[in-house]
Amino acid sequence: MVHDLQHRMLARPDAEESSRQRYVLAMKRYLTGRIRPGNALIYEQAVRPDFAASHQGRSPEDRSELREALLAHPQYQTWCSLNRSSQEMMWQAVGETVMRESERMRRDAAALCEDRAVLGGLRLDPAFQPPEVLQRVNIHLQPGGYARTLDAQDILAGAFYESGGNLYSMGRGMGGKDSKAGAVIAWLSREHPGFRPKRVLDMGCSAGASSVPYAQAFPDAEVHAIDIGAAMLRYAHARAEALGARVFFHQLDCAATDFPDGHFDLIVSHNLFHEISDETRRAMLAETWRLLAPGGICMHQDVAIQNATRTLFEQVERAWDVEFNNEPFWEAYADADIVSEMQAAGFDEEGARALALPKISGPGHWYAVYGHKPG
Ligand SMILES: C[S@@+](CC[C@H](N)C(=O)[O-])C[C@H]1O[C@@H](n2cnc3c(N)ncnc32)[C@H](O)[C@@H]1O
Repeated sequence: MVHDLQHRMLARPDAEESSRQRYVLAMKRYLTGRIRPGNALIYEQAVRPDFAASHQGRSPEDRSELREALLAHPQYQTWCSLNRSSQEMMWQAVGETVMRESERMRRDAAALCEDRAVLGGLRLDPAFQPPEVLQRVNIHLQPGGYARTLDAQDILAGAFYESGGNLYSMGRGMGGKDSKAGAVIAWLSREHPGFRPKRVLDMGCSAGASSVPYAQAFPDAEVHAIDIGAAMLRYAHARAEALGARVFFHQLDCAATDFPDGHFDLIVSHNLFHEISDETRRAMLAETWRLLAPGGICMHQDVAIQNATRTLFEQVERAWDVEFNNEPFWEAYADADIVSEMQAAGFDEEGARALALPKISGPGHWYAVYGHKPG
Protein backbone atom coordinates (compact mmCIF):
# COMPACT_ATOMS: atom_id res chain seq x y z
CA MET A 1 0.00 0.00 0.00
CA VAL A 2 0.91 3.64 0.08
CA HIS A 3 1.28 4.17 3.84
CA ASP A 4 4.43 3.51 5.85
CA LEU A 5 3.01 1.58 8.83
CA GLN A 6 2.61 -2.13 8.02
CA HIS A 7 1.04 -4.78 10.27
CA ARG A 8 -0.68 -8.15 10.03
CA MET A 9 -4.26 -6.82 10.02
CA LEU A 10 -3.79 -4.40 7.12
CA ALA A 11 -5.52 -5.37 3.85
CA ARG A 12 -2.73 -6.17 1.38
CA PRO A 13 -3.36 -5.07 -2.20
CA ASP A 14 -2.11 -7.22 -5.05
CA ALA A 15 -0.15 -5.58 -7.88
CA GLU A 16 -3.21 -4.56 -9.86
CA GLU A 17 -5.08 -3.19 -6.83
CA SER A 18 -1.96 -1.36 -5.75
CA SER A 19 -1.62 0.39 -9.10
CA ARG A 20 -5.31 1.37 -8.99
CA GLN A 21 -4.87 2.79 -5.50
CA ARG A 22 -1.81 4.73 -6.62
CA TYR A 23 -3.79 6.14 -9.52
CA VAL A 24 -6.52 7.34 -7.13
CA LEU A 25 -3.87 8.82 -4.85
CA ALA A 26 -2.27 10.71 -7.75
CA MET A 27 -5.69 11.98 -8.80
CA LYS A 28 -6.52 13.14 -5.27
CA ARG A 29 -3.18 14.89 -4.91
CA TYR A 30 -3.66 16.62 -8.24
CA LEU A 31 -7.18 17.75 -7.34
CA THR A 32 -6.12 19.00 -3.91
CA GLY A 33 -2.79 20.56 -4.86
CA ARG A 34 -3.35 21.84 -8.38
CA ILE A 35 -7.06 22.25 -9.06
CA ARG A 36 -8.62 23.17 -5.72
CA PRO A 37 -6.60 26.41 -5.29
CA GLY A 38 -8.25 27.55 -8.55
CA ASN A 39 -11.64 27.67 -6.80
CA ALA A 40 -10.57 30.98 -5.21
CA LEU A 41 -9.80 32.38 -8.67
CA ILE A 42 -13.15 31.18 -10.02
CA TYR A 43 -14.83 33.03 -7.17
CA GLU A 44 -12.81 36.26 -7.42
CA GLN A 45 -12.67 36.50 -11.19
CA ALA A 46 -16.08 35.18 -12.22
CA VAL A 47 -18.58 34.36 -9.48
CA ARG A 48 -18.23 37.52 -7.39
CA PRO A 49 -18.25 39.96 -10.36
CA ASP A 50 -21.29 38.19 -11.87
CA PHE A 51 -23.07 38.28 -8.50
CA ALA A 52 -22.26 42.00 -8.08
CA ALA A 53 -23.61 42.74 -11.56
CA SER A 54 -26.99 41.29 -10.63
CA HIS A 55 -27.09 42.59 -7.00
CA GLN A 56 -26.49 46.37 -7.27
CA GLY A 57 -22.73 46.00 -7.00
CA ARG A 58 -22.60 44.09 -3.70
CA SER A 59 -20.84 40.80 -2.85
CA PRO A 60 -22.56 37.77 -1.28
CA GLU A 61 -23.31 38.60 2.34
CA ASP A 62 -23.79 35.19 3.87
CA ARG A 63 -22.77 31.60 3.27
CA SER A 64 -25.99 30.55 1.64
CA GLU A 65 -25.83 33.37 -0.97
CA LEU A 66 -22.19 32.66 -1.69
CA ARG A 67 -22.73 28.88 -1.86
CA GLU A 68 -25.61 29.23 -4.30
CA ALA A 69 -23.61 31.53 -6.58
CA LEU A 70 -20.49 29.34 -6.47
CA LEU A 71 -22.40 26.13 -7.12
CA ALA A 72 -23.94 27.63 -10.25
CA HIS A 73 -20.52 28.08 -11.90
CA PRO A 74 -19.59 25.31 -14.38
CA GLN A 75 -15.89 25.22 -13.45
CA TYR A 76 -16.68 24.88 -9.77
CA GLN A 77 -19.24 22.20 -10.63
CA THR A 78 -16.49 20.36 -12.52
CA TRP A 79 -14.23 20.39 -9.47
CA CYS A 80 -17.09 19.19 -7.27
CA SER A 81 -17.79 16.28 -9.60
CA LEU A 82 -14.15 15.28 -9.90
CA ASN A 83 -13.58 15.50 -6.17
CA ARG A 84 -16.69 13.45 -5.41
CA SER A 85 -15.68 10.88 -8.05
CA SER A 86 -12.18 10.60 -6.59
CA GLN A 87 -13.69 9.82 -3.19
CA GLU A 88 -16.00 7.16 -4.67
CA MET A 89 -13.06 5.71 -6.64
CA MET A 90 -10.99 5.60 -3.46
CA TRP A 91 -13.55 3.44 -1.65
CA GLN A 92 -13.96 1.23 -4.69
CA ALA A 93 -10.18 0.73 -5.07
CA VAL A 94 -9.68 0.09 -1.37
CA GLY A 95 -12.83 -2.02 -1.19
CA GLU A 96 -11.56 -4.50 -3.79
CA THR A 97 -8.63 -5.31 -1.52
CA VAL A 98 -10.60 -5.28 1.73
CA MET A 99 -13.30 -7.61 0.39
CA ARG A 100 -10.79 -10.01 -1.22
CA GLU A 101 -8.81 -10.06 2.03
CA SER A 102 -11.74 -10.19 4.43
CA GLU A 103 -11.65 -13.93 5.22
CA ARG A 104 -7.90 -13.82 5.83
CA MET A 105 -8.30 -10.75 8.07
CA ARG A 106 -11.09 -12.40 10.07
CA ARG A 107 -8.89 -15.45 10.67
CA ASP A 108 -5.93 -13.27 11.66
CA ALA A 109 -8.11 -11.19 13.99
CA ALA A 110 -9.30 -14.36 15.73
CA ALA A 111 -5.73 -15.67 16.06
CA LEU A 112 -4.34 -12.34 17.30
CA CYS A 113 -7.08 -11.99 19.92
CA GLU A 114 -6.84 -15.50 21.38
CA ASP A 115 -7.06 -15.21 25.17
CA ARG A 116 -3.73 -16.77 26.02
CA ALA A 117 -1.68 -14.31 23.95
CA VAL A 118 -3.70 -11.15 24.29
CA LEU A 119 -2.16 -7.91 25.66
CA GLY A 120 -5.16 -5.60 25.74
CA GLY A 121 -8.90 -6.23 25.66
CA LEU A 122 -12.23 -5.73 23.89
CA ARG A 123 -15.56 -5.00 25.58
CA LEU A 124 -18.53 -5.03 23.21
CA ASP A 125 -22.13 -4.46 24.26
CA PRO A 126 -24.72 -6.36 22.16
CA ALA A 127 -27.44 -4.01 23.45
CA PHE A 128 -25.54 -0.84 22.42
CA GLN A 129 -27.33 1.33 19.86
CA PRO A 130 -24.91 3.53 17.83
CA PRO A 131 -26.14 7.12 17.36
CA GLU A 132 -28.98 7.06 14.83
CA VAL A 133 -27.20 9.44 12.44
CA LEU A 134 -24.21 7.09 12.18
CA GLN A 135 -26.47 4.17 11.32
CA ARG A 136 -28.14 6.23 8.59
CA VAL A 137 -25.25 8.20 7.05
CA ASN A 138 -22.11 6.63 5.55
CA ILE A 139 -19.72 9.30 6.81
CA HIS A 140 -17.24 10.43 4.12
CA LEU A 141 -18.88 7.83 1.86
CA GLN A 142 -17.25 4.85 3.61
CA PRO A 143 -19.21 1.78 2.47
CA GLY A 144 -21.40 0.72 5.39
CA GLY A 145 -20.26 3.70 7.47
CA TYR A 146 -18.70 3.59 10.93
CA ALA A 147 -21.45 1.63 12.62
CA ARG A 148 -22.18 -1.32 10.31
CA THR A 149 -21.61 -4.70 11.92
CA LEU A 150 -22.52 -7.76 9.87
CA ASP A 151 -21.91 -10.58 12.35
CA ALA A 152 -20.01 -11.52 15.50
CA GLN A 153 -16.64 -11.76 13.67
CA ASP A 154 -17.05 -8.72 11.41
CA ILE A 155 -13.98 -6.44 11.09
CA LEU A 156 -14.86 -4.68 7.81
CA ALA A 157 -15.64 -1.19 9.18
CA GLY A 158 -12.16 -1.01 10.71
CA ALA A 159 -10.47 -2.47 7.63
CA PHE A 160 -12.22 0.02 5.35
CA TYR A 161 -11.47 2.88 7.72
CA GLU A 162 -7.75 2.19 7.96
CA SER A 163 -7.07 1.50 4.27
CA GLY A 164 -9.34 4.32 3.04
CA GLY A 165 -8.05 6.70 5.70
CA ASN A 166 -4.42 6.11 4.74
CA LEU A 167 -5.11 6.83 1.10
CA TYR A 168 -7.29 9.85 1.91
CA SER A 169 -4.70 11.45 4.23
CA MET A 170 -1.94 11.06 1.71
CA GLY A 171 -4.20 12.45 -0.99
CA ARG A 172 -4.59 15.55 1.22
CA GLY A 173 -0.80 16.01 1.24
CA MET A 174 0.04 14.29 4.53
CA GLY A 175 3.13 12.11 4.55
CA GLY A 176 3.17 8.37 5.16
CA LYS A 177 4.60 8.95 8.63
CA ASP A 178 1.97 11.42 9.76
CA SER A 179 0.54 10.78 13.21
CA LYS A 180 -2.11 12.91 14.89
CA ALA A 181 -1.35 11.26 18.22
CA GLY A 182 2.35 11.82 17.53
CA ALA A 183 1.66 15.57 17.26
CA VAL A 184 -0.07 15.55 20.67
CA ILE A 185 2.60 13.37 22.29
CA ALA A 186 5.35 15.66 20.94
CA TRP A 187 3.51 18.69 22.36
CA LEU A 188 3.06 16.99 25.76
CA SER A 189 6.71 16.02 25.99
CA ARG A 190 7.71 19.63 25.16
CA GLU A 191 5.22 21.41 27.44
CA HIS A 192 4.84 18.82 30.25
CA PRO A 193 8.12 16.86 30.16
CA GLY A 194 7.52 15.02 33.45
CA PHE A 195 3.90 14.05 32.67
CA ARG A 196 3.41 10.27 33.00
CA PRO A 197 -0.32 9.38 32.89
CA LYS A 198 -1.39 6.21 34.70
CA ARG A 199 -4.59 5.89 32.64
CA VAL A 200 -5.28 7.29 29.16
CA LEU A 201 -8.61 7.47 27.30
CA ASP A 202 -8.90 7.91 23.51
CA MET A 203 -12.44 8.90 22.45
CA GLY A 204 -13.74 8.02 18.96
CA CYS A 205 -10.79 5.72 18.25
CA SER A 206 -11.94 4.13 14.94
CA ALA A 207 -9.31 1.56 13.95
CA GLY A 208 -7.09 2.58 16.87
CA ALA A 209 -4.40 4.31 14.79
CA SER A 210 -4.21 7.09 17.38
CA SER A 211 -4.70 4.88 20.45
CA VAL A 212 -1.65 2.66 19.85
CA PRO A 213 0.92 5.52 19.93
CA TYR A 214 -0.16 6.37 23.52
CA ALA A 215 0.47 2.77 24.61
CA GLN A 216 3.89 3.01 22.97
CA ALA A 217 4.73 6.46 24.37
CA PHE A 218 3.55 5.62 27.91
CA PRO A 219 4.32 1.88 28.31
CA ASP A 220 3.40 1.88 32.01
CA ALA A 221 -0.01 3.44 31.37
CA GLU A 222 -3.30 1.60 30.95
CA VAL A 223 -4.67 2.87 27.63
CA HIS A 224 -8.43 2.69 26.96
CA ALA A 225 -10.16 3.58 23.68
CA ILE A 226 -13.86 3.92 22.88
CA ASP A 227 -15.98 3.94 19.73
CA ILE A 228 -19.55 3.12 18.73
CA GLY A 229 -19.03 0.39 16.11
CA ALA A 230 -18.44 -3.27 17.04
CA ALA A 231 -16.77 -4.16 13.70
CA MET A 232 -14.58 -1.06 14.01
CA LEU A 233 -13.52 -2.00 17.53
CA ARG A 234 -12.93 -5.67 16.71
CA TYR A 235 -10.50 -4.60 13.98
CA ALA A 236 -8.89 -1.99 16.26
CA HIS A 237 -8.29 -4.60 18.96
CA ALA A 238 -6.70 -7.06 16.51
CA ARG A 239 -4.64 -4.28 14.94
CA ALA A 240 -3.29 -3.15 18.34
CA GLU A 241 -2.39 -6.78 19.15
CA ALA A 242 -0.64 -7.10 15.78
CA LEU A 243 1.44 -4.05 16.69
CA GLY A 244 2.22 -5.43 20.15
CA ALA A 245 0.35 -2.58 21.90
CA ARG A 246 -1.70 -3.03 25.09
CA VAL A 247 -4.96 -1.14 24.50
CA PHE A 248 -8.40 -1.84 26.02
CA PHE A 249 -11.22 -1.10 23.57
CA HIS A 250 -14.83 -0.48 24.67
CA GLN A 251 -18.08 0.04 22.78
CA LEU A 252 -19.22 3.28 24.40
CA ASP A 253 -20.60 6.68 23.42
CA CYS A 254 -18.28 9.60 24.18
CA ALA A 255 -21.31 11.55 25.46
CA ALA A 256 -21.85 9.14 28.37
CA THR A 257 -19.36 6.44 29.33
CA ASP A 258 -19.46 4.08 32.29
CA PHE A 259 -15.98 4.83 33.70
CA PRO A 260 -15.86 6.18 37.27
CA ASP A 261 -15.32 9.89 38.05
CA GLY A 262 -11.68 11.04 37.90
CA HIS A 263 -10.51 7.78 36.27
CA PHE A 264 -8.08 9.20 33.66
CA ASP A 265 -4.96 11.38 33.81
CA LEU A 266 -4.96 11.98 30.05
CA ILE A 267 -8.05 12.12 27.79
CA VAL A 268 -7.60 12.62 24.05
CA SER A 269 -9.61 12.51 20.86
CA HIS A 270 -8.47 12.70 17.26
CA ASN A 271 -10.72 13.96 14.46
CA LEU A 272 -13.82 13.19 16.52
CA PHE A 273 -15.23 16.72 16.91
CA HIS A 274 -16.13 17.04 13.23
CA GLU A 275 -18.08 13.75 13.35
CA ILE A 276 -20.44 14.62 16.21
CA SER A 277 -23.32 17.05 16.72
CA ASP A 278 -23.11 20.20 18.86
CA GLU A 279 -25.13 18.40 21.53
CA THR A 280 -22.84 15.35 21.58
CA ARG A 281 -19.70 17.52 21.61
CA ARG A 282 -20.95 19.45 24.66
CA ALA A 283 -21.80 16.19 26.43
CA MET A 284 -18.37 14.79 25.48
CA LEU A 285 -16.66 17.84 27.01
CA ALA A 286 -18.73 17.44 30.18
CA GLU A 287 -17.77 13.76 30.22
CA THR A 288 -14.10 14.72 29.76
CA TRP A 289 -14.33 17.00 32.80
CA ARG A 290 -16.04 14.29 34.87
CA LEU A 291 -13.53 11.59 33.91
CA LEU A 292 -10.37 13.66 34.41
CA ALA A 293 -8.45 13.05 37.63
CA PRO A 294 -7.24 16.11 39.57
CA GLY A 295 -4.08 17.31 37.79
CA GLY A 296 -5.24 15.53 34.61
CA ILE A 297 -4.90 16.84 31.05
CA CYS A 298 -7.15 16.59 28.02
CA MET A 299 -6.25 17.28 24.43
CA HIS A 300 -8.90 17.04 21.71
CA GLN A 301 -7.41 17.42 18.20
CA ASP A 302 -9.13 17.89 14.86
CA VAL A 303 -8.79 19.52 11.44
CA ALA A 304 -7.98 23.25 11.45
CA ILE A 305 -11.07 24.61 9.68
CA GLN A 306 -12.28 27.15 12.27
CA ASN A 307 -14.62 29.60 10.57
CA ALA A 308 -13.78 32.45 12.96
CA THR A 309 -10.43 32.83 11.16
CA ARG A 310 -11.74 32.35 7.58
CA THR A 311 -13.19 34.58 4.87
CA LEU A 312 -16.77 33.90 3.79
CA PHE A 313 -15.48 32.25 0.60
CA GLU A 314 -13.12 29.97 2.56
CA GLN A 315 -15.94 28.98 4.93
CA VAL A 316 -18.13 27.89 2.01
CA GLU A 317 -15.34 26.24 0.05
CA ARG A 318 -14.17 24.24 3.11
CA ALA A 319 -17.75 23.13 3.79
CA TRP A 320 -17.76 21.17 0.52
CA ASP A 321 -17.67 17.97 2.60
CA VAL A 322 -21.07 18.62 4.20
CA GLU A 323 -23.00 18.37 0.97
CA PHE A 324 -20.78 16.13 -1.13
CA ASN A 325 -18.86 13.91 1.27
CA ASN A 326 -21.53 12.96 3.84
CA GLU A 327 -20.04 15.03 6.67
CA PRO A 328 -23.16 16.39 8.41
CA PHE A 329 -21.31 18.01 11.34
CA TRP A 330 -18.30 19.50 9.55
CA GLU A 331 -19.67 23.05 9.39
CA ALA A 332 -21.12 22.98 12.93
CA TYR A 333 -17.68 22.01 14.22
CA ALA A 334 -16.04 24.78 12.20
CA ASP A 335 -18.46 27.32 13.74
CA ALA A 336 -18.13 26.14 17.34
CA ASP A 337 -16.43 28.09 20.11
CA ILE A 338 -15.05 24.99 21.81
CA VAL A 339 -12.98 26.76 24.45
CA SER A 340 -16.16 28.47 25.76
CA GLU A 341 -17.88 25.08 25.75
CA MET A 342 -15.04 23.63 27.81
CA GLN A 343 -15.50 26.41 30.32
CA ALA A 344 -19.22 25.65 30.45
CA ALA A 345 -18.24 21.99 31.10
CA GLY A 346 -16.17 22.94 34.16
CA PHE A 347 -12.68 23.98 33.00
CA ASP A 348 -11.60 27.38 34.30
CA GLU A 349 -10.22 30.17 32.10
CA GLU A 350 -6.62 29.24 32.83
CA GLY A 351 -7.31 25.55 32.22
CA ALA A 352 -8.73 25.59 28.68
CA ARG A 353 -7.22 26.96 25.50
CA ALA A 354 -6.95 26.36 21.75
CA LEU A 355 -3.65 25.38 20.10
CA ALA A 356 -2.16 25.04 16.62
CA LEU A 357 -0.30 21.72 16.67
CA PRO A 358 2.40 21.29 13.99
CA LYS A 359 1.85 18.16 11.89
CA ILE A 360 4.47 15.42 12.12
CA SER A 361 4.54 14.92 8.35
CA GLY A 362 2.92 17.19 5.80
CA PRO A 363 2.00 20.85 5.57
CA GLY A 364 0.06 22.96 8.07
CA HIS A 365 -1.12 22.26 11.55
CA TRP A 366 -3.92 20.61 13.51
CA TYR A 367 -6.42 22.44 15.70
CA ALA A 368 -6.54 21.22 19.29
CA VAL A 369 -8.07 22.25 22.58
CA TYR A 370 -6.08 21.70 25.72
CA GLY A 371 -7.66 21.40 29.14
CA HIS A 372 -6.22 20.97 32.59
CA LYS A 373 -8.04 20.04 35.79
CA PRO A 374 -6.50 21.64 38.87
CA GLY A 375 -4.72 19.13 41.12
C1 LIG B 1 -12.76 10.42 11.97
S1 LIG B 1 -12.93 9.03 12.98
C2 LIG B 1 -11.65 9.17 14.20
C3 LIG B 1 -10.32 8.68 13.81
C4 LIG B 1 -9.43 8.13 14.91
N1 LIG B 1 -9.55 8.85 16.16
C5 LIG B 1 -8.01 8.18 14.40
O1 LIG B 1 -7.29 9.06 14.83
O2 LIG B 1 -7.65 7.35 13.58
C6 LIG B 1 -14.32 9.37 14.02
C7 LIG B 1 -14.71 8.17 14.88
O3 LIG B 1 -15.58 8.64 15.89
C8 LIG B 1 -16.54 7.66 16.15
N2 LIG B 1 -17.72 8.28 16.80
C9 LIG B 1 -18.67 9.05 16.26
N3 LIG B 1 -19.57 9.42 17.18
C10 LIG B 1 -19.15 8.88 18.36
C11 LIG B 1 -19.66 8.89 19.66
N4 LIG B 1 -20.79 9.55 19.97
N5 LIG B 1 -18.98 8.23 20.63
C12 LIG B 1 -17.84 7.55 20.33
N6 LIG B 1 -17.31 7.51 19.10
C13 LIG B 1 -17.95 8.16 18.12
C14 LIG B 1 -16.86 7.09 14.78
O4 LIG B 1 -17.47 5.82 14.86
C15 LIG B 1 -15.48 7.10 14.13
O5 LIG B 1 -14.86 5.85 14.30
